Amino acid sequence: MISIAVFGYGTVGSGVVEVIEKNREVIDKRAGEEIRVKYILDLRDFPGDPYADRVVHDVNVILQDPEVSIICETMGGNEPAFTYSMQALKAGKSVCTSNKELVANHGAELIRTARENRCNYLFEASVGGGIPIIRPLNVALTAEKIELISGILNGTTNYILTHMAEDGSSFEESLKEAQEKGYAERNPEADVEGYDACRKIAILASLMTGKTVCYEEIHTEGITKITHEDFLYAEKMNLFIKLLARIREQDGKYYAIVAPFLIGEKNPLHSVNDVFNAIFIRGNTLGDSMYYGRGAGKLPTASAVVSDVIDCAKHGHTHIVCLWEEEKLPLSSIDGFSRRFFVRAAEGSEEAARELFGEIERIDAGAAGEFGFVTPAISEKEFAEKCAALPGFISRIRLEEA
Ligand code: NDP
Ligand code: HSE
Repeated sequence: MISIAVFGYGTVGSGVVEVIEKNREVIDKRAGEEIRVKYILDLRDFPGDPYADRVVHDVNVILQDPEVSIICETMGGNEPAFTYSMQALKAGKSVCTSNKELVANHGAELIRTARENRCNYLFEASVGGGIPIIRPLNVALTAEKIELISGILNGTTNYILTHMAEDGSSFEESLKEAQEKGYAERNPEADVEGYDACRKIAILASLMTGKTVCYEEIHTEGITKITHEDFLYAEKMNLFIKLLARIREQDGKYYAIVAPFLIGEKNPLHSVNDVFNAIFIRGNTLGDSMYYGRGAGKLPTASAVVSDVIDCAKHGHTHIVCLWEEEKLPLSSIDGFSRRFFVRAAEGSEEAARELFGEIERIDAGAAGEFGFVTPAISEKEFAEKCAALPGFISRIRLEEA
């Protein structure tokens, strides 16, 4: 029998217990031994819960119990999750986590600590919820030189954008629904401002390159400035507004960005809706591949955590190699990156727009007192300078580059 402990009995943590209960037979068979939840660490008690008798409030009870060999860290946040995870790893206990904030901040250090203590730090649930993406990157795609990762990596914002586009729901009501469904972060600013997607692309970029990509260095914009008018124009152009998180290698340089993009039907990410996420990966010999599924929510995320538990159980005290070093990967500024932009401007500024940007494509979508246009490909820096000089500038959205 393998005894495990769950740190944090919230949405994901309670899902871990439920998945183990629901799929007990198949999980035990695949793990090679019975998996039993011995402890649940939380700040609160859960009277009436079938697992109420396993709840403890002192982490040391768990850390000092030699029977516990695997921890599911589903508390979230940096501290005390970091301290507890390090203590567990140093005690030779493997840790499986859904906590992308912690993985993005300390992934390489936690993996090294696991290696030094002949155990594992696994984080399949930290990106894309229930989508298998960490294991494919660590195992199935290791022969590839990856040139591009482009993903819809946040369920809450994809839910909001889908509902704003399809049924005209407001930003606020869509966010409230996403919160009620358990998709959003405790502080939803992390979702809507793009910080969560930024941490996730930093994790994927670190696995892509084997070095640490600092999420603070990634240019990040959220969806809070997207309005109903933007969807009118998108519909007119037969394009879709998606919050993309991208890392691209070009001539030995790495460019990363998180921002809303207008994408067309040729991009397979265009049809990824609601809470679903998808990760598009281009490898130099494989070509294109895509990974799709539920990007947030209790059971899909818990399923990914439990898959890590099974992996740990199967490997005992063998460390599963994960190439992610502490050395930093320098990112190139996006200033020099060229792409087309969609711009909204006040009626009357078309001539100025032509003078500044040259051959523009005008779009009218019935929004009063304004028009839209698409620029030719132009560097981010040059675009920002020209926009600052455009009278009546309202807003802009990037078009995906080829
Ligand atoms: P919740 O807030 O629902 O659950 C966190 C739980 O941990 C709460 O019960 C909380 O207690 C408890 N907790 C917090 N601090 C401590 C502490 N110091 N000691 C013991 N228990 C503590 O969050 P989620 O389950 O939604 O998310 C957990 C992690 O998983 C986060 O990192 C999140 O980003 C990630 N994640 C979430 C997904 C989702 O769909 N919800 C999907 C993928 C990843 P209390 O409520 O009393 O503070
Ligand atoms: N808040 C996150 C999201 C949870 O909406 O995608 C999954 O990481």
